[in-house]
Amino acid sequence: MVKTLIPSPHQILITMTSKPTVVTCGLPYTNGLCHLGHLRTYIPGDFYVRYLRHLGDDIVFICGSDNHGTPIVVTAEAEHTTPRAVSEFYHAHFAEVFEEMGICFDRFGMTDDPANHERTISIVKTLIERGYIYKKTIQQSYCPSCSRYLPDRYVEGACPHCGKHARGDECDQGCGRHLEPGEIQDPVCATCGTKAELREQKHYYFRLSEFRNYLLEYLPTLGGTISARNYALGWVKNELKDWCITRMMNWGVAFPAPGQDDLVTYVWVDAPIGYISFTEEWAKASGNSWQKYWCEGDRVHFIGSDIIYHHCVFWPAMLYSAGYQPPSAVVASGMVTIDGQKFSKSRGNVVWTREDYLEKGLPADYLRYYLLSYTNHTRDLDFSWKEFATRINNELVNTFGNFANRSMTLVRTKFSEVPNVPVEQSIFDEIAKTLASVEMEVRSFEFKAAVDGILLLAGFGNSYISNAAPWKLAKEETQTAARVLKNSLQIVKACALLIQPVMPESAQRLWAMLGYTDAVADHPIADAMVPFENTTLGDVKPLFVRIEDGQREELEATLAKRAVGAQNKATERSTMETEIEPFSAEMVTIDDVAKLDLRVGLVVKAETVPKTEKLLRLQVDVGKEVRQIVSSIARDYTPEEMVGKKIVVIVNLKPAKFRGEESNGMLFAAGEPASLLIPLRDVKPGTRVH
Ligand code: MSP
Ligand code: ZN
Repeated sequence: MVKTLIPSPHQILITMTSKPTVVTCGLPYTNGLCHLGHLRTYIPGDFYVRYLRHLGDDIVFICGSDNHGTPIVVTAEAEHTTPRAVSEFYHAHFAEVFEEMGICFDRFGMTDDPANHERTISIVKTLIERGYIYKKTIQQSYCPSCSRYLPDRYVEGACPHCGKHARGDECDQGCGRHLEPGEIQDPVCATCGTKAELREQKHYYFRLSEFRNYLLEYLPTLGGTISARNYALGWVKNELKDWCITRMMNWGVAFPAPGQDDLVTYVWVDAPIGYISFTEEWAKASGNSWQKYWCEGDRVHFIGSDIIYHHCVFWPAMLYSAGYQPPSAVVASGMVTIDGQKFSKSRGNVVWTREDYLEKGLPADYLRYYLLSYTNHTRDLDFSWKEFATRINNELVNTFGNFANRSMTLVRTKFSEVPNVPVEQSIFDEIAKTLASVEMEVRSFEFKAAVDGILLLAGFGNSYISNAAPWKLAKEETQTAARVLKNSLQIVKACALLIQPVMPESAQRLWAMLGYTDAVADHPIADAMVPFENTTLGDVKPLFVRIEDGQREELEATLAKRAVGAQNKATERSTMETEIEPFSAEMVTIDDVAKLDLRVGLVVKAETVPKTEKLLRLQVDVGKEVRQIVSSIARDYTPEEMVGKKIVVIVNLKPAKFRGEESNGMLFAAGEPASLLIPLRDVKPGTRVH
């Protein structure tokens, strides 16, 4: 990947060709539509590939959809269809959106296609033969009410690492860790909410723990973003448990052990193998060799920071143990958030690429520019329409577009033809400096710095033309005006070539305005140093259009409305659930009721239990004494709200411990979100409830 820039005698930068490189992007799951968060993997990946291709690198760009795993089965069950049909629908959606966004993969495959089943089976068989896989009996969650085992997304509970609410195999609201079957605490069935039981199941494990030393040696050599390397190293240094690589379900790649028809391979085994099998499919269709990339070249993975563990721990260990080359670089972006919150369909916190962006008539190029240039690649990016509009208006319209349009319009109005004068050396020097710095930034995955570098050249052009003011130059200074405009055109040409990987459609329009009839994409970026050769310009029109306040406000309103809609729906759902819960069939007598000693209690102190999301620790005055009661109402009541409340408490309940905190009693609340039961008239703490 390391390259040298050699200035040629004609000042054209010649780049040494690097190794053949396969660039991949994290495969989207086929259980939902494409949102802006996804694009932070694909747009930088596409930009990187386009830029390096312009420099002459040999790159194959691979992606596909991730079809296996429980969420897709859950979606299929809800829609009364098959996981394959669900996958095909969302696969087609992603393929179309990528095309509309100018993201051009050489192959966009499906992990459920035969090539991936075959490659996965071959790799898993190798691991079995090499003794890296063993069978083990584990305690798996089981829902007694749904009568089924609860793999991954079917179970919810608390993360054993950070205590936050976690779903299935990942702590998606908290520390982001991968969770093994049986690890989740206080598991409940995600479908019906029943407390899960633990039942024995036999599963296959990969001896990941044996690869600790290998990973400790390999990770410091891994290229890409420092964030990926460091997170992974931290995890590996801490603890590396063996990895359960089977699931009991019938959607996925059959696990290739005799007599194990009930098991499929865990989705995180066959998904990254898709990177290889899609390259195979591409090679087969185009008469190329996949081995050239996977065995000899470089392998660069673009992902979001939520899946670093899978790409920097599981994946290299699996590749290494099966005799393949591990990744050369993992490029992990920060997450896209809204108001600092994760994207969430159920909370209405989401911007859909199609419905909320493309269908509003907004150009793909604006979003490409915004996502690449807004912040460093490894930082989280908090999306807002305000920031989006500001950047488009200030940088694209006022700087880049204004400079290009001014230069070309002045040539058209002041001269009939492009002035036939040479471009000054100082202009070439400025362009050469930009080419060198942008290439360096792209190769070090500093995409914001790269795009800033291009905008800086446009800004330089803008100041240059403003200071020289060719429109003011009098008749006798026509020669000076000609020189200034020719210099400006050279910078515009360089800008068109440089910006092509960021905004392919706009760059092509600009190229045509400059009078070219071919595709800017077919030119090496080094052509920026070739003196501007056209004698006439094309049709000159404004390159970018401002985003007006009214339009921005409409976009903001859509986002706000969706969040309110989601909240209403959630409340509706919860009220309906409380209404329809059936009455208990078991009858109790008055004596049973009398056994419960219920009192009025006054909350004197309240705090959240550290490292938990749900639990509040309350000190409750129950008349004779102050009791500690731990209750899972932290999502619905803040500690401040609780202090001073009079509530109903059972005082003769056997003490219990929650997350190490003793609880001496219980309070009463109804429904979800919880509504606390309180006495209507003022009564003294300790008063009996009857
Ligand atoms: N199917 C897995 C990836 C398997 S790769 C062998 C997956 N799918 S995903 O649909 O959830 O995400 C697809 C890509 O988008 C991943 O690279 C993921 O990191 C990225 N992002 C999804 N949501 C994101 C944000 N809100 N912000 C930034 N990137 C995010 O993960
Ligand atoms: Zn966690």
